[in-house]
Amino acid sequence: MDRKEFLSAIGVSAAAFTVMNCLACSKGSNPGSSNSVNGPTGVDFTLDLTTSANSALLANGGYLAQNNIIIAKTTAGAYIAVQQSCTHENYPLVYQGNSKQFYCNNHGSAFTEAGVVKNSPASHNLTVYNTTLTGTSLRIYS
Ligand code: FES
Repeated sequence: MDRKEFLSAIGVSAAAFTVMNCLACSKGSNPGSSNSVNGPTGVDFTLDLTTSANSALLANGGYLAQNNIIIAKTTAGAYIAVQQSCTHENYPLVYQGNSKQFYCNNHGSAFTEAGVVKNSPASHNLTVYNTTLTGTSLRIYS
């Protein structure tokens, strides 16, 4: 007896069996839908702005990601740092200097330069880190 014959024998059509399978496998298929995601804790590192790897931070509006944190230089020339992960479903954010925001390309959430939710679906603000520039060394810390 094959699968079709078995299902027929117990009174379940192949279509009904497929629907049951889909219902069963859809459970938990959207694991991060309502999670808030916090940024790293205990952060303390320094970037050397003279190295080419960090040159994006020399231009106003430039940014880079390091240690799961986005470090950006605003169009006004200030250094800011926030968690890299979107608080909606953990997707990596980008910095958009001209719009003065951090943006998630996954579902369109946006956050101000202070890490405050500007556009949903995210409902939790970003973790913000301190920055201190000493000469050409930029320290990012909790
Ligand atoms: S992951 Fe959904 S808006 Fe960022």
